[in-house]
Amino acid sequence: MIERTKSGIQGLDELIEGGFPKNFCYALVGGPGAGKTIFGSQFIYNGITKYNENGLYVTLEEPPYSIANNMMRFGWNFYELENRGKLALINATPIKEPDQTNYTLKGEMVTEEFNVDGLLGLIAEAKRKINAKRCVIDSLTALSLKYSEDFEARQQSLKLIRGLMEMNLTTLLLTEEFEESTDRKKFSAVEFLAQGIIYLHIYRIRDFIIRAVEVRKMRGTKIINKLCLYDFTDQGIVVYPQETIFRNI
Ligand SMILES: Nc1ncnc2c1ncn2[C@@H]1O[C@H](COP(=O)(O)OP(=O)(O)OP(=O)(O)O)[C@@H](O)[C@H]1O
Ligand SMILES: [Mg+2]
Repeated sequence: MIERTKSGIQGLDELIEGGFPKNFCYALVGGPGAGKTIFGSQFIYNGITKYNENGLYVTLEEPPYSIANNMMRFGWNFYELENRGKLALINATPIKEPDQTNYTLKGEMVTEEFNVDGLLGLIAEAKRKINAKRCVIDSLTALSLKYSEDFEARQQSLKLIRGLMEMNLTTLLLTEEFEESTDRKKFSAVEFLAQGIIYLHIYRIRDFIIRAVEVRKMRGTKIINKLCLYDFTDQGIVVYPQETIFRNI
């Protein structure tokens, strides 16, 4: 039996035989506003509050306080979890100033000069400190964009993914859509190294925006091969496995 890490996201785990096989990296792919940050935060929050698994949130785009503030509206208090030593936020964005108008993230870890070895060091340290089992990288695309050469971007992404797998973390790699990218080589490392890929699609049909989850691959797992609607609710993302896209056009 494969040990699985439940996302706790309503409707999602049943698409992947109950959860993500433990200790691998998974790509969560979607365009701007698809809900990657919310999904990743929910994975971490549920891990801590429902499954007793502490988590690391590594941000390369949005500063940690911004994510923490935005997640408050779902009732997910990252400040409190961080204070209780259950969550560690790693700030690898260029924005290092805390938001003085809000609570402070006491243990926020900060990358100085950015490089993947330094980042892996911080992740390892944070993991040890709070005994983390889950991790989110937000986003892998932001990491790729730090390198002007595609080759270098791919090498560094590979290094990060390998490092995370060696640490036995179950990790979501948030990734901008690479399928339609003209510059797809930049993102292809994730396609073969990730143990699984989940897409968050957004379709425009007539006057409607339709959001659908697709599990593209999940090694060692019998997946449900259909597009299932998802939405944002006051409790975060909810997936509707019974609601396929065709029923709603
Ligand atoms: N409570 C809510 N109800 C409905 N929609 C919401 C709610 N909270 C956030 N959203 C929507 O979720 C989207 C943002 O999700 P999120 O930040 O997770 O996207 P993302 O995929 O990380 O985007 P980016 O690529 O810009 O980082 C926004 O479009 C926002 O309007
Ligand atoms: Mg985001």
